[in-house]
Amino acid sequence: MNLLRTAARALALFTLAATLAAPADARTLEEIRKDGRIVIATEGAFAPFNFFEGKQLTGFEIDVANAIAAKMGVKPEWKAIGFDALLAGLQQGRWDMVIASHGITEERAKAVTFADPHYCSGGVIVAKDSRIRGAGDLAGRKVAVQTGTTYLDNVKKIAGVAEVKNFPQDADARNALATGRVDAWVTDRFVAKQALAAHPGAGMKMGDFLFVERIASAVAKGNQPLVAEIDRALAAIMADGTYAAISKKWFHEDVRCK
Ligand code: ARG
Repeated sequence: MNLLRTAARALALFTLAATLAAPADARTLEEIRKDGRIVIATEGAFAPFNFFEGKQLTGFEIDVANAIAAKMGVKPEWKAIGFDALLAGLQQGRWDMVIASHGITEERAKAVTFADPHYCSGGVIVAKDSRIRGAGDLAGRKVAVQTGTTYLDNVKKIAGVAEVKNFPQDADARNALATGRVDAWVTDRFVAKQALAAHPGAGMKMGDFLFVERIASAVAKGNQPLVAEIDRALAAIMADGTYAAISKKWFHEDVRCK
């Protein structure tokens, strides 16, 4: 009994120490300022938010984060990393900020600190069969989603789905639908819109929203001065027309949360 209690206490202390130690690996706002550059990680495979045009990283979130860095007076240094590794790299201090269309969830907020949302969207159902539109139509169906996403979390909650197929990249999930290996693909509304326009021959149709979410960038858990500075810069570009122009360029509409 005593031994158990000691072990439990040791574990609690260890967990606490680990929690407190985590932000120490991340760079402070002061260090970032002194260095003159902020290291930003994204995926680079989620058009039109973050993707490659040849060797050039581009997209709505690249423009937004570049504008945020400009307001902060620092130079952005970009890294493109697999989606699954992005948030963990913050705790390890491998980069200062992540912007990759992460929906704000309770689970993620335990591990990282989210900035204010830079857009609002949601997961939609895409299928070739126009009878597959809503959550109820997914019963008995095979559904493709990207690994580690809120699309996966939300599809898992639907009763009766025959199979959820995971793909490391969202484009592979889309391809599974296009080639008929699954019945539906769940992805972001704006990603779906662009994919449908880019592949008109595939016969994919957009169904209903499965859920809505607020999308934000993130920093290492507890890095308050840095997140406050990002929030201040985001508010500034939202107020001075920079954000509106970027949003119009990519979506012909303003995608900020209302
Ligand atoms: N919005 C979804 C989420 O929060 C998907 C994000 C996917 N982002 C990406 N760069 N592939 O999980």
